[in-house]
Amino acid sequence: MEEKIALYLKEIAAFSADNLEQLEAFRIKFLSKKGLVPALFADFKEVAPEDRKVMGQRLNELKTAVQEKIVSLKDQLDSKVETTGNKQDVTLPSQSTLGSRHPLSIVRNEIIDIFSRIGFTVSEGPEIEDDFHNFTALNFPEEHPARDMQDTFFIEKDPDLALRTHTSSVQVRVMEHSQPPLRTISPGRVFRNEAISARAHCIFHQVEGLYVDEGVSFTDLKQTLLYFARELFSENTKIRFRPSYFPFTEPSAEMDVSCNICGGEGCNICKYTGWVEILGCGMVDPNVLEACNIDSKKYTGFAFGMGIERITMLKYQVNDLRLFFENDVRFLNQFKPAR
Ligand code: DAH
Repeated sequence: MEEKIALYLKEIAAFSADNLEQLEAFRIKFLSKKGLVPALFADFKEVAPEDRKVMGQRLNELKTAVQEKIVSLKDQLDSKVETTGNKQDVTLPSQSTLGSRHPLSIVRNEIIDIFSRIGFTVSEGPEIEDDFHNFTALNFPEEHPARDMQDTFFIEKDPDLALRTHTSSVQVRVMEHSQPPLRTISPGRVFRNEAISARAHCIFHQVEGLYVDEGVSFTDLKQTLLYFARELFSENTKIRFRPSYFPFTEPSAEMDVSCNICGGEGCNICKYTGWVEILGCGMVDPNVLEACNIDSKKYTGFAFGMGIERITMLKYQVNDLRLFFENDVRFLNQFKPAR
């Protein structure tokens, strides 16, 4: 036994490994259940009682020698992998890729930015809204079809509650709690019970705008929205207003911008008209001011509301609304800011 131990110790001292596989083979050879060291321990039973103390120490020396060898070779191999195996150069600049903002967030932030430059604040309201804020205070007659089950997601347990169908509800919340002068925009998510298609979705985003003060006129509305359209699209953008109807504004209008794709020449985006509709607007109906405890004899105001999806589609020529909700990185990656 003594000879074997001496032989093994020599072999261990001389051993070196080029890779982890060789080291593992070495470990198995000496330390596995059927390896050389356990075999010697098994033979230990045969050793004469007077030699046991010395032989026991020698055996333990052998075992420790194998274990230490394995640990030191493993350390060597690990550091070798770090410097050569992976070819990592820790001095290289970071290669990690940046994520990108969602196109709807990019456009929403841009809209906020444009209006904040002319003194508009940002306000928000709840997505689950009551009838008063979503409809009644906004001058919707009792029998108005927008209250119908077809458009609105009602909350089953409480017929007074629904998912807001537009961000105009935030106007009401702002006016209820503060007196003019008011200048605010309200971006947010809205919900309508519509079949999902390339042009419609049951969830989408709007930005509402509200300006109430003494002497606010339709001219202020036009000039504010002209500034907005030119900042958002280009300085050559033209706007036009078409008469329309909303319960909460009187008079009401829809605003078109000259097509930013063809510059008004006519193309398939603007259906060869040169114009695309981007928002609804009007002078706040006195009934709405009164419902929110604002003196309609003293104050007037304008309001407008636009869909963020629609504007993003126009700005980036996206032709299917569903792309905004699928979060396919091949789509989203295209909106990376230039580095
Ligand atoms: N709330 C309207 C909608 O969802 C959009 C709108 C139109 C908002 C006219 C307004 C407005 O503030 O004055 O279709």
